[in-house]
Amino acid sequence: MLKRRKNWIEIRKILHINHGLMFAGMVLPISPDRAGMTREEQMDKFEKFCGEYQKMLSEEKTIVGSVERGRQLVAELTSQPDWFCSYLERIISHEASAGIERAGIWSNEYTIYRSPDKSFIVLAYIWEAGQKDIIHDHNGWGVVGTLFGKMREKKYKRLDDGTKEGFCELQEESNEVLGPAETTFVLPLNNGLHVMDNAADEIAVSINVYRKLIDRNYIQSFDPAEKKVTRLFPGRTLRELLAVKALAEMDPSQTREILQKALGPSKPPFLKKEYEEVLQKLRA
Ligand SMILES: [Fe+2]
Repeated sequence: MLKRRKNWIEIRKILHINHGLMFAGMVLPISPDRAGMTREEQMDKFEKFCGEYQKMLSEEKTIVGSVERGRQLVAELTSQPDWFCSYLERIISHEASAGIERAGIWSNEYTIYRSPDKSFIVLAYIWEAGQKDIIHDHNGWGVVGTLFGKMREKKYKRLDDGTKEGFCELQEESNEVLGPAETTFVLPLNNGLHVMDNAADEIAVSINVYRKLIDRNYIQSFDPAEKKVTRLFPGRTLRELLAVKALAEMDPSQTREILQKALGPSKPPFLKKEYEEVLQKLRA
């Protein structure tokens, strides 16, 4: 465990050292007018990106290499935003994302693509003028690029060791504004704490490509002023959690059986713990 933690710290250092260089080399020019392209041709470009990303993941053996090449691919994709127009057309006609939309935590999140082997997911976030996120961690590594507008990212370092439940101490590490085709990255858990916000008075769009490494079913949000950590659940998980808590307050002769039946081996550990605590309470 300690060795794994050390590895992530090393990876973080290497990627931060390369930071300036990578930004300089990765800002690509915005494409010229592409009005001549059909909707299908525009979306072909996005599909080509997904194919190249998949190929990159199969070729790259290190996280550093994957993040670097991932940023190049995302910079290229976000340098030519016309494909997103075709995607939005499908959104407003309710054709896009059928069957792949995930019940995420954020209401401004759109699932554009989910790789068939589940190795990565491509999300878009549409940010209203001045919209702010909360400081959070991630269950994998990812690359984020601005498609249009201006996105601010602040990265944070965790100062405490995380052993005191619900407590945190954070220090701001960086504060950068990313214009179109500029990218950043996140790493898992405490090595990728960040917050993003729309830094301008106009709408902004970010494209986020994530490779999940940890099956946790929640992420954590951080409040450095209050020194508090809170779990954030996707909608479906939160509804299940609240239902279990409500069942705990009802007639035990009925709810015990309902909970025992639902508590299968596939439950994630934190939900299993919640079920078991409620069942314990009902037995008492
Ligand atoms: Fe994030």
